[in-house]
Amino acid sequence: MDFENNSSKTDHVMTQGKSTTKSRCKIVAVDGPAASGKSSVCSAVCSKLGWNYVNTGFLYRAVAYITRQEGIDLADDSALKVLLSKFSDSLRWEPDTGKVFVGDLDITDHLYTDIAGQDASRVAKNSIVRELLLPLQRRLGTQSKYGAIVDGRDIGTVVFPDADLKVFMTASLDVRAQRRFHQLESNGQTGSQEDFDAIKASIAKRDIQDSARGEAPLKQADDALTFDTSDMNSEEAIAALVELISTKLKL
Ligand code: CDP
Repeated sequence: MDFENNSSKTDHVMTQGKSTTKSRCKIVAVDGPAASGKSSVCSAVCSKLGWNYVNTGFLYRAVAYITRQEGIDLADDSALKVLLSKFSDSLRWEPDTGKVFVGDLDITDHLYTDIAGQDASRVAKNSIVRELLLPLQRRLGTQSKYGAIVDGRDIGTVVFPDADLKVFMTASLDVRAQRRFHQLESNGQTGSQEDFDAIKASIAKRDIQDSARGEAPLKQADDALTFDTSDMNSEEAIAALVELISTKLKL
């Protein structure tokens, strides 16, 4: 199969947008629990297909970081609204590098720690935050020329319920903990058995928190295909997802 790379080089600015579900590009919704391989597999698949990759988790991580920096109480809905409108024009994600900026400040390194994941999961329970991020996620997904993979927790159930294909990417807790451990280890952030145990406990806690919340919980859409990566290395998972998308969408 021959894939041309046409992914957009444009930065995405956090502004309000509308869902344009008519005559839009192809949308593949990928949901699943933490560390199931979504971001690494989906971004590689998008490079092969020439599609845009939209990682919605970065939005929740960035909002959690800004909230913490500004000392905003998550229970204070009006302060959250003010905060999000203040930062809405300055929060920027570069799809090509995965870097996240507030204005000119690169905050990427603050977002991909274990604590940032826990913070994001807490912020993600808030209905005001979810409501304000919804149009942005739809806009990011639909601005691709050919297609986009949008990954998160509620993409197939809430953000793009009419996606062309829905995938629920999962893996066993042990495998996911190993992957996150190696990822953090390669960034010099961890290394010991206690760290591994703590990461596993943290992922398990986030699974429960994300699945049990009232607002847009993590759950497999009825029409989503299960994609279990427990026994796949990353090359195998990438090849399998390219095959699945190509077959189902007749690319
Ligand atoms: O990379 P990982 O799977 O660990 O997490 P992520 O996709 O970066 O998401 C971080 C947290 O944001 C999740 O634990 C969810 O609580 C929240 N999130 C969400 O609620 N809805 C989304 N569409 C994406 C992320």
